[in-house]
Amino acid sequence: METKLPTEEKIRLFEQRKDALMAMGGEKLVQKQHGAGKLTARERLDALYDAGTFQEVQLFVKHRSTLFGLGEKEIPGDGVVTGFGLINGRTVFAAAQDFTSAGGSLGEMHAKKIWKVMDMAVAARKPFVALNDSGGARIQEGVPSLEGYGGIFYRNSLASGYIPQITAIMGPTAGGAVYSPALTDFVFMVKKSGSMYITGPEVIRAVIGEEVSQEELGGAVAHATKSGVCHFATESDADCLAKIRTLLSFLPDSCQSPLPLAAAAEDPGRDVPELDALVPDRANRAYDMKKVIAAVADGGELCEVHELWAKNMVVAFVRIGGRPVGVIANNPKHNAGVLDVAASDKASRFIRFCDAFNLPLLTFADVPGYMPGTQQEWAGIITHGAKLLHAYSEATVPKITVVTRKAYGGAYIAMCSKHLGADYVMAWPTAEIAVMGAEGACNIIYRREIAEAPDPAAKRQELVDSYEAQFNNPYFAAGLATIDEVIRPRETRRRIATLLGALEDKAETRLPKKHNNIPL
Ligand code: HXC
Repeated sequence: METKLPTEEKIRLFEQRKDALMAMGGEKLVQKQHGAGKLTARERLDALYDAGTFQEVQLFVKHRSTLFGLGEKEIPGDGVVTGFGLINGRTVFAAAQDFTSAGGSLGEMHAKKIWKVMDMAVAARKPFVALNDSGGARIQEGVPSLEGYGGIFYRNSLASGYIPQITAIMGPTAGGAVYSPALTDFVFMVKKSGSMYITGPEVIRAVIGEEVSQEELGGAVAHATKSGVCHFATESDADCLAKIRTLLSFLPDSCQSPLPLAAAAEDPGRDVPELDALVPDRANRAYDMKKVIAAVADGGELCEVHELWAKNMVVAFVRIGGRPVGVIANNPKHNAGVLDVAASDKASRFIRFCDAFNLPLLTFADVPGYMPGTQQEWAGIITHGAKLLHAYSEATVPKITVVTRKAYGGAYIAMCSKHLGADYVMAWPTAEIAVMGAEGACNIIYRREIAEAPDPAAKRQELVDSYEAQFNNPYFAAGLATIDEVIRPRETRRRIATLLGALEDKAETRLPKKHNNIPL
């Protein structure tokens, strides 16, 4: 009977129990984990948190299932390590599944440990990070493990927009287990070891006869390039955890917390001369919008989200004068920066995240329009494009737009034009703001004149020149106050920094209602 023992002995037994739990699934399984190129749950938490700051919660929790031999099975910590600590000096809560303990499978008590730290994160108004490495629902436990997942999904949904939520996929994630990550704000995946799918390769082969490997189906690269489920594809556990730390450095603790301001390492007013020469002379030449973003950002640093998916749209966190900002930009380097389904979804979700957490929105527009064709129409470009309009319109954070070159038609409106509530729209002298490009416009409005002219090519050129003189510049729009200012490209960083300061206390409200109905 432990209760009858002297205090010293009780302490010794406590240490012994603790050490046994800290050893997780034991030396052999830890080695197996390392052999698979993976860190253990505790090693991951050590790498994620500032040294020595992680404090574990509910270490002594045990499962209480007796079915299918579980009654005799010890599962240290019930397969998950939970707690909180400091990341970049700020409190963050986390749950890390321990694959060495029953494959990190999620049973009733495992789930309740996760619920506990999620509830603490919400109460404390601090971010929550999940490090997933699990065989999924603990099969022997049955329905309680499904209840466990349900409770996590419910908490993910209620915490959405209140605290930042991040998931790292560092092992298998199959079936319904994929939905907690999908409900969080950002999904990181580790190449080779992380995978996500609703049904695995074997079921796919049996049901529809398709042959696909696990990596091809649901690996980090597949989800970072094809589905967009993965926001950050990372090289290793260490790389993944370091990148989570970087992302968190841009985010506030909650929707009610101040933005994390960095000491202004650089003069916000510095000129960026290279921007004067960035836009090519010919309108159909590509350039890399990321160079513009890097040029205006503090230290040229971009924390790019969805780097490998829908590359025609760039979304990234940067700092300008020490303030974190969300950047949304068409990238003419990929598909001329056209708007399509994936680009619309990518930008809309990012905008909603930034608005929820009070990060100002900085938009760079160079967009020829929406992608034509049956593929896009039948994929629902109408609905998906509408998301972008909705997301920008509902956002009440400071909204600053810079038109660098093309801003045509509906896509001009969609890229945070004044009509969607932009606080300030600037254009470079290279901007072309019009209903459509000159060639297309003249082919429609002057079809007869061109056909009947003695030299149709010369006539078309003359009409195109006249259209361009009228519309393919920023001055027509500036004259109508549709844009607020034409600026020299080299001044862009200074202008933005000044506006961010001026708009810092912006307070805008929307109609009182339960919630919007964004076209999903
Ligand atoms: C109970 C599990 C488990 C599970 C793994 N284990 N998954 N125990 N429930 N879901 C146990 C194994 O029995 C083994 O225990 C230990 O974890 C390590 O597993 P291994 O198979 O030895 O590891 P490995 O060879 O690396 O294979 C990993 C794996 C495989 C690919 C994840 O274990 C696997 O296919 N597991 C089942 C995956 C699955 O179908 N899950 C249910 C999905 S349904 P011992 O004691 O031998 O060390 C689901 C629904 C969620 O999750 C719905 C939410 C709404």
